[in-house]
Amino acid sequence: MTTITVSASNRYQVKIGAGLLSSVGEELKSLNDEKCCRVCIVSDDNVFPLYGKTVINALESVGFSVMSHVIPHGEGSKCLSVYGEILEHLASEHISRSDWLIALGGGVVGDLCGFCAATYLRGIRYLQLPTTLLAMVDSSVGGKTAIDLAAGKNLCGAFYPPHGVLCDIDALQTLNDVIFADGMAEVIKYGVIFDRELLELLMRDKTAFDRETVIARCIDHKRRVVEEDEFDRGVRQLLNFGHTAAHGIEQHSGYTISHGHAVAAGMGIVTRAAEAAGMISEPFSPMLETILADFGLPYDTDFTAEDMTDAILSDKKRDGGIIRLVIADAPGHAMLWPCPATECEAFLARGIREKNQA
Ligand code: GLY
Repeated sequence: MTTITVSASNRYQVKIGAGLLSSVGEELKSLNDEKCCRVCIVSDDNVFPLYGKTVINALESVGFSVMSHVIPHGEGSKCLSVYGEILEHLASEHISRSDWLIALGGGVVGDLCGFCAATYLRGIRYLQLPTTLLAMVDSSVGGKTAIDLAAGKNLCGAFYPPHGVLCDIDALQTLNDVIFADGMAEVIKYGVIFDRELLELLMRDKTAFDRETVIARCIDHKRRVVEEDEFDRGVRQLLNFGHTAAHGIEQHSGYTISHGHAVAAGMGIVTRAAEAAGMISEPFSPMLETILADFGLPYDTDFTAEDMTDAILSDKKRDGGIIRLVIADAPGHAMLWPCPATECEAFLARGIREKNQA
């Protein structure tokens, strides 16, 4: 097992290893001064049947009293109505500030449960038990919690770090190829923006890479960034590499294209656009495309830059008339580029292959 300690506004440990879901009872007891209390597990209808019993048994066996709230899987649950239902459930069960929430699932469950934890009774403690690769390497760490609004993704949320994260790598075995690939987009992102050696490792080992080593390496990058810029004013924004175009793709597709696949396409588009604009010291789009393809990910979109524009203009990364785009100017190195909002569409269009343009 690998343990990484994140020291931000709240200090917490992220543990990565096999079989950790079975040890959540002991883990929570140690975080709760050896006392037992009540715990509400928030999970979805895909994950709960797989791991709910393991987690409930682990908690009950050391004396916790456990209830659960299971939501429909998918991005559609990250909304005001499901958020409200969870809060009403917690209130009707008289869950108090000395009790805990547990997010058992992928990014949707983690973001939603984290936002409930941030706001219910003005904040109660919670654990993240991510079961997807994407949630392990990215969304469960760093305290970004959110729900979506009709106008866009993650537009309502809070910075509210978890009190612990357990990444049980055994859970990766039940992921289908598409969901696993979603997480790989974020792993590849860390390589492109911070870690050339990680890209080389992925090119060499392909899907046989050591899960614990690579996940821990990504989480350690995230730790460093969150410790430096927890509230997303500077270096943390580099983690948004590919995400501006991705939000446009996700939203224009009505969320039928998943986040990781959209991020992969976004990374390809912005890298080709930056190359075309002469902003790259060491062009690497062919290498990036090869790695993305090796993991079953796209590196382009069938949409036009115009299709993506509405979402791009309502993106959180907009600052008045400026969109802060992340440009990787060489493998393993990235920078923020303040792109005038009026030029963003034309810039991205340069990264979309000719066939797609009107
Ligand atoms: N997912 C990007 C971040 O946590 O900042």
